[in-house]
Amino acid sequence: MKVATDFDLKQYLKDKKSKIENFIKNYFQTPITPSVLHESVLYSLTAGGKRIRPILCIASYEACNGTKDITPYAVALEFIHTYSLIHDDLPAMDNDDLRRGKPTNHKVFGEGIAILAGDGLLTEAFTILSNPDYADVNPDILLKVIYEISTSAGVRGMVAGQAYDLISEGKEPDEDTVKFIHLHKTAAMIKASVKTGAILAEASEDKIGRLEIYGKAVGLAFQIVDDILDIESTTEKMGKPRGSDLQKGKMTYPKVFGLEKSKQKAMELIREALEAIEVFDQKADPLRKIAKFIVNRTA
Ligand code: IPE
Ligand code: IPE
Ligand code: MG
Ligand code: MG
Ligand code: MG
Repeated sequence: MKVATDFDLKQYLKDKKSKIENFIKNYFQTPITPSVLHESVLYSLTAGGKRIRPILCIASYEACNGTKDITPYAVALEFIHTYSLIHDDLPAMDNDDLRRGKPTNHKVFGEGIAILAGDGLLTEAFTILSNPDYADVNPDILLKVIYEISTSAGVRGMVAGQAYDLISEGKEPDEDTVKFIHLHKTAAMIKASVKTGAILAEASEDKIGRLEIYGKAVGLAFQIVDDILDIESTTEKMGKPRGSDLQKGKMTYPKVFGLEKSKQKAMELIREALEAIEVFDQKADPLRKIAKFIVNRTA
C-alpha cells in the first residue's frame, strides 16, 4: 500500500476550504430577493462544514493531472450537499435543531423558507454547472458531469437513500437495507464528487472506474463513521445533536452490526479504497490521506 509521507493534509484541507469559501462569498455578492431567502441560503452555506465533497472533487481532478481551476464545479457539489442537510433536519425528516454548530435553518427562518432555500440550492447547483462563464470545459464533458451529479442526487441516488432512511425508522435491523440506505443517501454524492473531478480532468475510463470504487468505498465508510460518531462523539465537537439516530430508531451500522464490527467495516472499506487507487502516482496522495482522515475523524 502506498502511503503519503511528505504531505500536510491539514494545510491542504485549509487551502482548499478557503478557495471554496471565497467562491461562495463572491457568488452571493449579487443579492437574491426576497432578502430572507438570501439570508437563509447564505446562513447554511457559510455556517461551516468540512467541505469534504468539493475537496474530494478537486483532489480527484488533481490526481488525474487536471491543472485548471474547477472551484465552481466543486462548489456546485457543496450546494447540493447543503440543500440535503437543510431538508434532512426538517421536522418531517430528522427533526434536528443544531447543524454546523448553529440552530438549523428552519429554526431560524421557518420551515417554508428552509424548504425553499434547499430547493434553491439544488437548482442553483445546475446553474453553476451549466453557466457558460465558467465553462473552460468542453460541453460534452460538462454534460457527463451533469449526468453523473443529477443521477447521484436524484430519485435513484441520494433521494432514494433518504426515503429508505425515513421509512426504515423503528424497523428491525437489516443488513441489506442499511447498506442500501448508506450507499444511496451518502456514498452516491461522495462518489459523484470524486468522479466529477476525474471526468473534468478527462481521465481514462480505467482511472474513472478506479475512482468510482474509491468514492463509493470512502462514501460508505463516511456514513458508517457518522453513525458511530452519533454514539461516541459529542454535540459540541460535531456541531449537531449526539444521539439523534438512537432517538429516532434509525437503521444505522451500529444498530445492525454493533459498534466494533462497524468500525472494522469502515477500516476495510478504506483499505479497499486505497487499493483501488494504488496505480495512481503521488498526485493522489491527498485522496489517500483524506480516506484515512475519514475513518479517524472524531467529528
Ligand atoms: C453530514 O455530512 C451528512 C452526512 C452525509 C453524514 P458532513 O459530515 O460532510 O457535514 P458537513 O458538511 O461537514 O457539515
Ligand atoms: C444524512 O444522513 C445524509 C444526507 C443525505 C443529508 P444523516 O441524517 O445521518 O446526517 P446527519 O447525521 O444529520 O448529518
Ligand atoms: Mg437523516
Ligand atoms: Mg440527520
Ligand atoms: Mg448522522
